[in-house]
Amino acid sequence: MANAFYNGSFADEREIYIPLSDRCVYFGDGIYDACIGCGKRLFLFERHAERFFNNAKRLSIRCPYSADEIRKIINTVSEGIKGTFFVYVQLSRRGGERAHTFDEDSYGNLLVTVKPAELPAQDTRLRLITVPDVRYEMCDVKTLNLLPSVLAAQFARRSGADEAVFIRGKSVTECSHSNVHIIRDGRLITHPADNHILPGIERWHLIETARKCGIEVQERTFDKNELYSADGVIVTSTSKIALAAALVDGICYSYSGECESETLISKMHEDFYSSLL
Ligand code: PDD
Repeated sequence: MANAFYNGSFADEREIYIPLSDRCVYFGDGIYDACIGCGKRLFLFERHAERFFNNAKRLSIRCPYSADEIRKIINTVSEGIKGTFFVYVQLSRRGGERAHTFDEDSYGNLLVTVKPAELPAQDTRLRLITVPDVRYEMCDVKTLNLLPSVLAAQFARRSGADEAVFIRGKSVTECSHSNVHIIRDGRLITHPADNHILPGIERWHLIETARKCGIEVQERTFDKNELYSADGVIVTSTSKIALAAALVDGICYSYSGECESETLISKMHEDFYSSLL
């Protein structure tokens, strides 16, 4: 059964071959987005689509499909999947032979894949480890250039942790493939949505949830000491929604039912399940 789409054709993922003229091969020249679906529903799809098209614009790649057409493609490739699934949508630049320069505003290649994915239970606790943020100054664009994130994630895995937290200078920025936030004195503190973090859709969801719950939100940088001494640490991403950290660099956090982290995490999971199932 076709569980993937590349440039106009539906096929089994294992039968899709990317030509060398697709600049994702030589340059990682493209962008992607990911969301979670169930049946014909896609969680916060409009927000993911908005970010995807903004990112395409930032790199001057035109997408040959509208958001509605992409939604239909996703519906086709996810047909027959039972339960929740992870959707990956990539737009890469077309080229000829290898050359750094490219034709401005040409149409790109669209790749869509899906795979069954169960979300972790909301009471899952994460173990985090900090690493230097050696990435560039364009972390707000969801490009295919993920090597520092890949290496950081692998370092975390080797160290027995679930996620790596990037530290840039003195600031905690985000994780290798998620955003990180702290709770201090009843407030939610999150790195500003500047060029040093990806403006995560679940980060937006967390901020919205906090505001609805009357929890003050501070979008400001915070350092390792504030992270270590926080009342709670929340990690957000599409495939986790929101989870609390039990450990950062060996420092333990304990959560009571009263803690804002618990309230926010449980409301966000509620939104997810009520909108998808
Ligand atoms: N990762 N920061 C980075 C560096 C990320 O790669 C991601 C998502 C996030 C969270 O964004 P969102 O809430 O929109 O998922 C933050 C995706 C899921 C991935 O690469 O698979």
